[in-house]
Amino acid sequence: MRPDDYSIEVKNLKKTFQVRNREGGLFAAKRYLQIEAVRDISFSIPKGEIVGLIGSNGAGKSTTVKMLTGILTPDQGSIRIRGMDYRKNRRDILMQIGVVFGQRSVLCWDIPIVESFRLFRDMYSISEQTYRKNMDIFSELLNLKEYLYQPPRLLSLGQRTKADLAAALLYDPEILFLDEPTIGIDVLAKDRIREFIKVINRERHTTVVLTTHDVSDIEALCHKMLVIDRGSLLYDGTLQGMKEQYLAQCGETSATGEIELEHIIKQIYEGSFL
Ligand SMILES: Nc1ncnc2c1ncn2[C@@H]1O[C@H](COP(=O)(O)OP(=O)(O)OP(=O)(O)O)[C@@H](O)[C@H]1O
Ligand SMILES: [Mg+2]
Repeated sequence: MRPDDYSIEVKNLKKTFQVRNREGGLFAAKRYLQIEAVRDISFSIPKGEIVGLIGSNGAGKSTTVKMLTGILTPDQGSIRIRGMDYRKNRRDILMQIGVVFGQRSVLCWDIPIVESFRLFRDMYSISEQTYRKNMDIFSELLNLKEYLYQPPRLLSLGQRTKADLAAALLYDPEILFLDEPTIGIDVLAKDRIREFIKVINRERHTTVVLTTHDVSDIEALCHKMLVIDRGSLLYDGTLQGMKEQYLAQCGETSATGEIELEHIIKQIYEGSFL
């Protein structure tokens, strides 16, 4: 594959946090703990792929996503987004990526959603034609019309996430980062969000990096998976490849007699596979 064919290339990425050790109470001598959140991770994601980033709580997924989206600076290693580097092309990269954190909205809390969208239109210099086209498509796919004139503080979590998804895609970015977009969302809204991601990927060839604890999100959307455990990359490959590797290595199936992805993931988290 040529370098142009990759949306994301990551080499030897590392991030360590230093946190105050509060053992011994407030007046104890200051001691610091080093938390190695991401330890030497390398991977590449081809353009147009939907990749699931999975791992147990605290594995380093959000830290990785924050480095890939320019929110955090890595301690070591390199990140190339569409061949560009944050240190030189930060603005150009930010125009090419959309980000949704399921637990934190980018929309202004007290003003109608449509006003936040208009703000994005001006910030990203979106043409009137693109803005209208996207608003029409997103309104239909995400039912935005029902709450476009409401502020986020009056919306349900599912409605807010859909509005966040629309905001992240208004300027036609090539890459979409989703950090737990389906957290706390009911089954019907989840279906709609998954369908939306599929349509956007199919029609716009948007590359999607999806972090989730919901195995059915991965099964519904992803062809490839990156598995992180305690800051290290354990697996980079297809879902099918993982099932085959599991069968070859463990030769064991789940209680239902099939190799279920959830069963394999449990074995990974328990440390008995990979
Ligand atoms: N800003 C921070 N300061 C200090 N430590 C942090 C910070 N952010 C994350 N960490 C630590 O880094 C490690 C990885 O955290 P991260 O949020 O990346 O995990 P995660 O895989 O996204 O987990 P989850 O599934 O619970 O969201 C954890 O041990 C966490 O406590
Ligand atoms: Mg996280």
